[in-house]
Amino acid sequence: MMVDSLAYQLFGEPYVKFLCGHGEQLRGKVQGFPLASELASSGLLVVFIVNDNDAVAACGIRSIFNVLVLYVEEGYRGRGLGSEVLAKTIDVAQKRGLNFVTLSVSSDNITAFHLYSKCGFKEVAYLRKPNLILMMIPLNLKGRFVCEFLKDVCSFLPDLFLTRVHGWFYKRTVQED
Ligand SMILES: CC(C)(COP(=O)(O)OP(=O)(O)OC[C@H]1O[C@@H](n2cnc3c(N)ncnc32)[C@H](O)[C@@H]1OP(=O)(O)O)[C@@H](O)C(=O)NCCC(=O)NCCS
Repeated sequence: MMVDSLAYQLFGEPYVKFLCGHGEQLRGKVQGFPLASELASSGLLVVFIVNDNDAVAACGIRSIFNVLVLYVEEGYRGRGLGSEVLAKTIDVAQKRGLNFVTLSVSSDNITAFHLYSKCGFKEVAYLRKPNLILMMIPLNLKGRFVCEFLKDVCSFLPDLFLTRVHGWFYKRTVQED
């Protein structure tokens, strides 16, 4: 599979670009990131590069539930990069025909929750023990039906059951190094 590269102007830096491909192909770029396993397991991975080769942000989508994970290096946070990478990834996902995207975020992670809500993600369920909010965004009409359906299903399934399913599913979708 090809890696798409798109030159991009941000912060006035000249060598800024997005790499877009499969997580396996771009594994080396995100090796040092705390969410490296999740990112490398992604079928779609967008990596933001500065100074020709330094990865400073990445966003990946993996598995049949299209689970999204996002990371921005500390020194680059608070400048709109998270929003840019997320928007770019959602755009590519939509062009590739994905129906929806899901994610889980800690309810303590105010910045990420704010960012996801701003970009159109809606809360589907809250898992009490791991303190996680499950969110989804539909990318087309079919995705809208799936989101509504999952929201309804989650509303009557017990918290403990959902937590177990989430934990099991998480382990199955991340290839540990
Ligand atoms: C979450 C994360 C990706 C945000 O990246 P970022 O580049 O700082 O994001 P942005 O600069 O685009 O800011 C996003 C929004 O959060 C807001 N924000 C930034 N810091 C904030 C804070 N401390 N409290 C509340 N909101 C904050 C920004 O104002 C912006 O909202 P706005 O556009 O309405 O003004 C980054 O903090 C990160 O990588 N965290 C560690 C990994 C993580 O938590 N990932 C998400 C879980 S999967």
